[in-house]
Amino acid sequence: MIVLDGVSFRYGEDGPDVLRGVDLRLREGEYVALAGHNGCGKSTLLKHLNALLVPTEGTVTVDGLDTRDSSLQRGIRRAVGMVFQNPDHQIVGMTVEEDVAFGPGNLALPPREVRECVREALARVGLEGYESRAPHTLSGGEKRLVSIAGVLAMKPRFIALDEPTAYLDPVSRRRVLDLIVGLHRQGMGILHVTHSIGNIVDADRLVVMERGSIALDDRPEAACAALASGRFPGLEAPPVATLMAELKSLGWGVNPNVLSIREACREIDACLARRPGERP
Ligand SMILES: Nc1ncnc2c1ncn2[C@@H]1O[C@H](COP(=O)(O)OP(=O)(O)O)[C@@H](O)[C@H]1O
Ligand SMILES: [Mg+2]
Repeated sequence: MIVLDGVSFRYGEDGPDVLRGVDLRLREGEYVALAGHNGCGKSTLLKHLNALLVPTEGTVTVDGLDTRDSSLQRGIRRAVGMVFQNPDHQIVGMTVEEDVAFGPGNLALPPREVRECVREALARVGLEGYESRAPHTLSGGEKRLVSIAGVLAMKPRFIALDEPTAYLDPVSRRRVLDLIVGLHRQGMGILHVTHSIGNIVDADRLVVMERGSIALDDRPEAACAALASGRFPGLEAPPVATLMAELKSLGWGVNPNVLSIREACREIDACLARRPGERP
């Protein structure tokens, strides 16, 4: 559904290439996680998905629509919702209702329909009854959920989230991650930029960027095994993947491509069963 083809991007005429020849395909209903060091171009790539930025070279198409065509950008932005890194920058209303209504209000829908969109979007993020709250009185996690509700109120088919769990406490983080997984189960396509690889075990694919290029694009298990092997210094694999890579390097015949503790236990158990009474 979203296709990046040979995308390069510079912020200024003679600035450096921030994106370099990026090829990426995000299929309908797919959940893709995107990781990489600070400054590698993740946020820049994200902004290409709904025409906030357009490529200097190459093309981005959403359902076949070229993001460079300004007459198509309205439709593209309806299809692809964007949750920015800092929720404070996305809050525009005096109340939660006003805030979440901002997008659908701009679509010239009748007020009753807008209210219905808002009610439904707040219910989807678990904030029923928050309509009249002032955004600045909310916790960081609630603000984040409101900004996601504001995007959902537009009923996009695809949602791009830029580090949606950054600076959240563990309970709020869990809430946001569960929400993302729930949206994916309902068929929404997702691009989730994250610093913490541990957050992405439910994704269909993990993409790792390095200096504006895609360095890895694989299923999470295989991608985490690659991280655990130390291929990308500074990007930490989930502890289970690191444990399995370590066992493998010690000569254990385990499959390192597992991400859950349960699967890891099974692998170790099977390995011990093959060599009873002997430590590999
Ligand atoms: N508005 C901008 N103008 C000029 N350079 C920018 C701008 N935004 C980001 N950059 C530069 O582009 C590079 C990639 O930034 P960004 O996409 O924000 O990376 P990430 O999200 O992976 O941390 C960085 O070197 C950053 O300094
Ligand atoms: Mg960023």
